[in-house]
Amino acid sequence: MDWFLILLRIIHVGSAMSWFGGSIIGSFFLFPTAQALGPAGQPFMDQLMNRRKMGIFFPIVAALTVLSGTALYWRASDGLQLTWITSPSGLAFTVGGLAAIIAFLAGLALVGPSVAAQTAVRNELAGGDGVPSDAQRARLERADRLMKMATRFDLPLILLAALTMAVARYL
Ligand code: HEM
Repeated sequence: MDWFLILLRIIHVGSAMSWFGGSIIGSFFLFPTAQALGPAGQPFMDQLMNRRKMGIFFPIVAALTVLSGTALYWRASDGLQLTWITSPSGLAFTVGGLAAIIAFLAGLALVGPSVAAQTAVRNELAGGDGVPSDAQRARLERADRLMKMATRFDLPLILLAALTMAVARYL
């Protein structure tokens, strides 16, 4: 029995499920709810992203998925052998893997700055009268736009990765 392969697969499938499931719950339920609540949604987002650490949980499970997936890809392709990569299964794992890596990088580039800006403005507001200035409102709106862009761009890529991974072995 190959215990290392089993461990890699447990890490990969476990973290991928958390990333995939969390993205769906976040994109379809949590973020739209916070947005619909307007300013009242900000404490909810703060609690979710900073206190419940969702802003840290996602980069960690996404990084674990990509790292374990890369190790599995290396093993499955026997060190990047073209015969495996260009087979129907290999192509599906390649397309899914690339889609997930792009989603991971886009998430880091868009979600990270968005959460950082929201936290910074909220901390400033907590130390003052709580009413955002025009500049602070503009920073919050920009953070909001980045978050929306991330969910629109990332979700289809994560879906593509999950679907190709689900069927790749049987192609
Ligand atoms: C959202 C991202 C991802 C999801 C949801 C996901 C999901 C899965 C699932 C469910 C399996 C098991 C499939 C089976 O055994 O039939 C799997 C296997 C695999 N994944 Fe991913 N994956 C993701 C990202 C990645 C990435 C980024 C890579 C590579 C760079 C990768 C490479 C692989 C490989 C090579 C296997 C086959 C492992 C084996 O046969 O032992 N995956 N993935």
